[in-house]
Amino acid sequence: MRCELITIKVNGEERTLAVAPNRTLLNLLREDLNLTGTKQGCDDGDCGACTVLVDGRPVLACIKLAAQCDGCEVTTIEGLAREGRLDRVQEAFWHEGGMQCGFCTPGMIMSSYALLQRNPHPTEAEIRQAISNNLCRCTGYTKIVAAVKRAATFAEFTQR
Ligand code: FES
Ligand code: FES
Repeated sequence: MRCELITIKVNGEERTLAVAPNRTLLNLLREDLNLTGTKQGCDDGDCGACTVLVDGRPVLACIKLAAQCDGCEVTTIEGLAREGRLDRVQEAFWHEGGMQCGFCTPGMIMSSYALLQRNPHPTEAEIRQAISNNLCRCTGYTKIVAAVKRAATFAEFTQR
């Protein structure tokens, strides 16, 4: 299969990569760039475990072709912490105990992060809507919602 060259910025670093037309963004991230924080759950667009940001918007990386991301900026869970410090959303999940097995957590955090970027003070209904594509088998969602509310209270939450 013929590959094409794409250039994407991943967590702030520009990368030029040869990708097959059927290569998904998820496989590119996990297998070519070793960014395994993004999880492979259903691999079919149903669970949200693979959620990353493409140009700031949450995207299911398992059903997004890598070639469609040419020229885009991709942010994964590995791109949130800075200089060894957790991002505020990560910190809020930690404090509230918004995870159990943790498999859904990277995707949950990316969806929540995107919500707070566009809506710094969401209602509970807006939080639940924003994570409605992210399935969690463990927590019952209550602590996840509490974590997003907590993250929203950090006054210095800033856009990146
Ligand atoms: S792995 Fe992508 S939605 Fe489940
Ligand atoms: S914490 Fe286990 S699936 Fe959400």
